[in-house]
Amino acid sequence: MPDAALYTPTAIIGSELPRIDGPLKTSGTAMYAADYHFPHLVHGVPVTSTVAAGKIRSIDTSAAEKMPGVLLVITHDNVGPLFRMAPGGHDGRTSESRPPLEDDIVRYWGQYVAMVVAETIEQAQIAAHAIKVDYDPSSFNVSKVLDDSPTEELPLHTESKRGDAISAFASAPVKIDQTYVTPAETHNPMEMHATVAVWNNPKFTLYETTQGVMNHQHVMAETLGVPRENIQVITRFLGSGFGGKLFPWPHSALAAAAARQLNRPVKVSTNRQMMFQNVGHRPRTQQHMQFSATPDGKLVSLRHDYRNHTNLGDDIHENCGEATPFIYSVPNLLLTSALVRRNVGTPTPMRGPGAVPGLFAVESAMDELAIALKMDPVEFRLKNDTLTDESNGKPFSSRHLKECLQLGSEKFGWSKRNPKVGSMCKPGDPDVILGWGVAAASWGAGHGPCQASVALLNDGTARVSCGTQDVGTGTYTIFAQIVSDRTGIPIDKVRVVIGDSALPPGPTSGGSTCTATVLPAIAEATDNAIKVALATAATAKDSPFHGKKPDGLAFHEARVHLEDRPASTGTPYQQLLKMANIDAANGEGSTSALNSNPEARKYSTHSFGAQFIEVEWDPGIARLRVSRVVSVIDGGRMINKKTAENQILGAVVMGIGMGMLEETIYTPKTGQPLNSNYADYMVPTHADSPSIEVHFIEYPDPILGEYGARGIGEIGLAGVAPAITAAVYHATGVRVRELPVRIERLM
Ligand code: MOS
Repeated sequence: MPDAALYTPTAIIGSELPRIDGPLKTSGTAMYAADYHFPHLVHGVPVTSTVAAGKIRSIDTSAAEKMPGVLLVITHDNVGPLFRMAPGGHDGRTSESRPPLEDDIVRYWGQYVAMVVAETIEQAQIAAHAIKVDYDPSSFNVSKVLDDSPTEELPLHTESKRGDAISAFASAPVKIDQTYVTPAETHNPMEMHATVAVWNNPKFTLYETTQGVMNHQHVMAETLGVPRENIQVITRFLGSGFGGKLFPWPHSALAAAAARQLNRPVKVSTNRQMMFQNVGHRPRTQQHMQFSATPDGKLVSLRHDYRNHTNLGDDIHENCGEATPFIYSVPNLLLTSALVRRNVGTPTPMRGPGAVPGLFAVESAMDELAIALKMDPVEFRLKNDTLTDESNGKPFSSRHLKECLQLGSEKFGWSKRNPKVGSMCKPGDPDVILGWGVAAASWGAGHGPCQASVALLNDGTARVSCGTQDVGTGTYTIFAQIVSDRTGIPIDKVRVVIGDSALPPGPTSGGSTCTATVLPAIAEATDNAIKVALATAATAKDSPFHGKKPDGLAFHEARVHLEDRPASTGTPYQQLLKMANIDAANGEGSTSALNSNPEARKYSTHSFGAQFIEVEWDPGIARLRVSRVVSVIDGGRMINKKTAENQILGAVVMGIGMGMLEETIYTPKTGQPLNSNYADYMVPTHADSPSIEVHFIEYPDPILGEYGARGIGEIGLAGVAPAITAAVYHATGVRVRELPVRIERLM
């Protein structure tokens, strides 16, 4: 492991500080995108296709146009200029490459085919129902089975290879050969996607539900064909996103196009049904696993061959092999992937994209192989642990999977497990069978580039700003913690300004990289602001430090003091600024991308974890519940233990959804996502949520900046579903290889 260049922070780092934006949210004063209202604002309601494939023969808008309050009906004939992203020459990423209403072709059920704009939402909704679209339907494919042969257009890719996995498997003494399937899953944040577009020629202001204000600005500049400086994207608060809000969706361009045509602010909000159609989903995956081992439990070969469905126009790859090449030590490995086209909306990243469905297959196969070996599944994983990433020969910067498994075993009470299927009962309730399962977790760690500004103001407050946003995870709070850590300015005097693309460029809230990305920039900006404050103290005429060298001064507890004297002897910085008639000591800071650091490139950087899960199975009444979870996370230093624990708790609950409930069902009859509502697409409720214990193994990662923090937004979901199905097997003897677990298959 690398030499630690870590810094020792004050007690505010790692504390359980509640979210500083909590009161705004709980009092209803936090402004979400759809909350913005402006004079003369009008409402757009999209019309969605009722076929899964075909051509629009005609759209009869005449009745709608005569209805009260209707101002505009947009179709592919009059949408105005909306462009595709140029390949290569940009640093923005969109979701569906086809701009809305580009042509008269329908590629999936629910695609936008028109939009009505009216004075009120009700007028727009009624008029949208009055639009008559005549289709030339064509055949479509929403089939669940993904074993289509690779084509020239969608070839098979070899993603990682070492040794000879095929012949090693053929001659290996103990092996398993199984296929695992994960369904399409739909992100269901509470807050629906929305855009309020304000056109003030030549500028657009877009109030958005986006996990990336900067990216949204870049994409919409190209989509609308205007320079970046003419787009301002604002997202002050998000009601979560889970990846569904990473990249812009077609409704944003429709809102902007309508605002430009009408010269009035336009609001477009998707409804819950559209959430299943036009704003992404986790694609269905099918993963063929061939794993083999020696009789004493050393892995011999791993073969992972997977497919995922994508839409008709985009090659969206669900990176299911994210963790496969490095999670265990194995001499022979082959990882391949292919895409399969379906008439579905556009897939997009969903919490732990790739790795989460990928680890369902990897960790299920590991469990099955452990059973074939008659070996304890924890012991089997420990035996195949490694501190080197064997896909590239690099050491891990910080890997403590072994400790996660050991601590999890201890906290869960794993040593009391009887491996015999159906052998354990709930204490005091012999009708209820217990199943105990385990799985390992992994997710990439890294950071991108970023800039931040800090101002130490002469009223005793500080301001920190950056063009990022808080998806609900606690980003506002950790910004304030870093400034407070370095200056001693109390948290309640630090104002955090984010959620605006006009701010210094900041990261997308995605890939569990936001915290690691913003930290170095905020730290540097704060330190630079402190330097300005010290220089002011050394030069201001009435300053007690007048004429001293700034080098001999220090800044702690919000005071400037002589470096060799305690902070309590110093002068509050705001007094010094006032003496000099200076409003603020300003500092700028930046983070560069992790892979631009030659030292970082010597290491493989990932987070790890272990999930231990108990299920209760009552065959008499066909009831299966997840009853207990112990989640141990190796995610570097935790900046805020409360928001960090919240992340893992939420992820585990989402994992229970993935394991037991979630599946977007496309009816083969019409291609429609059928269960497109909260009643039929089930996510866990509080009553479904068991006792969840979260433990962090805190090893600050020496490669990820001086705080050593890695992201933790996604790692908590990894490993939950395979630990559930392992526990279900232990209770019932039924191995569920296609999610979600369905009770009827256990009977
Ligand atoms: Mo996450 S899928 O990067 O929001």
